Amino acid sequence: MSTASPLYTAEGLVKAPLVHKGKVRELYDLGEHYLIVVTDRISAFDYVLSPGVPDKGRVLNELSAFWFDQTTVFQNNHVVHTDVDRLSDIITEPELLRGRIMVAKKAERIDIECVVRGYLTGGGWRQYRDTGMVNGHELAAGKRKNARLDNPLFTPAAKNDIGHDEDITIDRLTELVGAELAAELEEKSVRLYQYAHDYCAGRGIILADTKFEFGILNGEVILIDELLTPDSSRFWDESKYALDIEIDSMDKEPVRTYLAESGWDKNSEPDPLPDDVVEGTAARYQDILRRLTAPSAEVR
Ligand SMILES: Nc1ncnc2c1ncn2[C@@H]1O[C@H](COP(=O)(O)OP(=O)(O)OP(=O)(O)O)[C@@H](O)[C@H]1O
Ligand SMILES: [Mg+2]
Repeated sequence: MSTASPLYTAEGLVKAPLVHKGKVRELYDLGEHYLIVVTDRISAFDYVLSPGVPDKGRVLNELSAFWFDQTTVFQNNHVVHTDVDRLSDIITEPELLRGRIMVAKKAERIDIECVVRGYLTGGGWRQYRDTGMVNGHELAAGKRKNARLDNPLFTPAAKNDIGHDEDITIDRLTELVGAELAAELEEKSVRLYQYAHDYCAGRGIILADTKFEFGILNGEVILIDELLTPDSSRFWDESKYALDIEIDSMDKEPVRTYLAESGWDKNSEPDPLPDDVVEGTAARYQDILRRLTAPSAEVR
């Protein structure tokens, strides 16, 4: 495994204006395109933790690029290229950013998180437990936490600049974007989920749920942002699957366990992560990348 130190930011390494700095990714304006840089920052419960996780950004970016490539036959996306050597005029130290960048077509973002759930867990489970419904979808009584749903559910959320995204019903989505676009987002999202779910199943991984973002470019709805990464999806190792329990995520499990045991209140700056937690987490990310993208004969 790489022993490189984590990349916290590409600021100072990119000669282009920074237009957005998220918890993990940075967006630079290249004029016609955006440059997305995925750093090694890691977040939990809306806090960016320290230190970063070496090569996490590379793993996330490679996974996104992999899925964009796999799905492009049925869903157009924003990718232009991921080759740092084509950016020698704006990137001064290419080795620091190699593997972490994506040049993307600028789209007019649709301010909806297109969530698809194949299993009743997380926020979807909590809605069902409390109301019997998930984003307005009425489900049969008596379902258990982590149960597989008969059909994947489209459970969109309205993107909210301040605070958290807001779960909305299909009716509300229709009010926001119109019936035609609402139906298109649902159809595209469910199709992508189905495809990825089946692909993952072939590799012993359950894609419990995921989130897509779309934008409009020249009148066409295209996929933007990141795709089917552990930051946007809940991946479960098939061997860990069980009803009623809290199933560890494949990526941040060591972090979650450590934070729970450290007694952190989730309301203040957390203590730095110990080396073994960072190393364990880095290994998890590498493992997911390998299990999802290695030629199938090498997996397991
Ligand atoms: N091709 C694109 N065209 C337009 N906007 C894009 C494109 N690709 C990604 N974006 C937007 O760029 C931003 C990427 O930011 P990022 O996901 O890192 O941070 P965030 O969502 O604001 O915050 P965080 O993920 O840390 O909670 C998002 O707002 C995303 O919608
Ligand atoms: Mg985001």
